[in-house]
Amino acid sequence: MSSVFNANLLAGQHAVITGAGSGINKRIAERFAIQGACISIVGRNAGKCEVAAAEIRALGGTAQGVAADVRDADTLADAFHQASDAFGPIDICIAGAAGNFVAEAATMSTNGFRTVIDIDLIGTFNTFRAALPLLREKRANLLAVSAVQSALPTATQAHVCAAKAGIDMLVRTLSIEWAARGVRCNAIAPGPVADTEGMKRLAPSGEASWRRLLSGIPMRRAAECDEIADLALFLCSGAASYINGTVIAIDGGQSNLGSQQFGDMLLDSLRET
Ligand code: COA
Repeated sequence: MSSVFNANLLAGQHAVITGAGSGINKRIAERFAIQGACISIVGRNAGKCEVAAAEIRALGGTAQGVAADVRDADTLADAFHQASDAFGPIDICIAGAAGNFVAEAATMSTNGFRTVIDIDLIGTFNTFRAALPLLREKRANLLAVSAVQSALPTATQAHVCAAKAGIDMLVRTLSIEWAARGVRCNAIAPGPVADTEGMKRLAPSGEASWRRLLSGIPMRRAAECDEIADLALFLCSGAASYINGTVIAIDGGQSNLGSQQFGDMLLDSLRET
């Protein structure tokens, strides 16, 4: 868990992170804990949240797991109250929970499309709304985990592209509505990230497919979770105190090339299965 930042940038702060039982969001949780924040890990799988929290405690950090599905606004609000009762007002809220699968729009069911909209877009709205009444006055940070698909139309990802584009506009709108409350609201938009559930679902098996995927990225490699965690840390720290309403791509330059290789590779991998 190496970081370019020194410890204690977030001393005494409370960060609530959805979907932090694994992957990028888990690494963000660990990174924020090392920087002195108390962490509430929210996810639909109680056991996974508690294991992730226990791992942070084992590193000397402070963390708790709180179970809730971001699709259920009432349960989520209860979970945020529970988190705040234990660790105090929320300084940082990260909407990281997401769902994805590879499917062509021509055959995807309405429920399949809706499921990703529900988890990603409505889940982000529910998350930020649950946090709002519990936010630390005058200096809170909201961060959404978007994706390159928000700006790059990508074959087999119609549901994800629509959901993530919605997240970007939600963040930009909230950055206007909630700025007077002292809330900053931003998003990060990663491209492929190594060793994550998302990549397991998206990345094809085999060297040739990987090479094809990476040929669409100027830096010719996927991101590391640590690199995503450092961007999240920067945006939620005082170093970014005047950054509000932005969506920052962290994709090795992929957005400058477009997503044709990515989409073609996903289409071919779908047709091969
Ligand atoms: N292709 C086409 N449709 C699919 C699909 C696939 N590979 N996987 C799921 N669906 C459809 C289902 O068929 C269902 O629609 P239907 O009722 O019309 O049949 C709908 O999506 C909901 O599926 P279900 O499995 O009931 O939803 P869930 O709430 O249990 O799971 C998912 C949500 C589908 C997003 C699941 O992939 C998931 O839990 N993902 C979380 C982890 C993840 O994706 N991480 C990576 C983030 S980048």
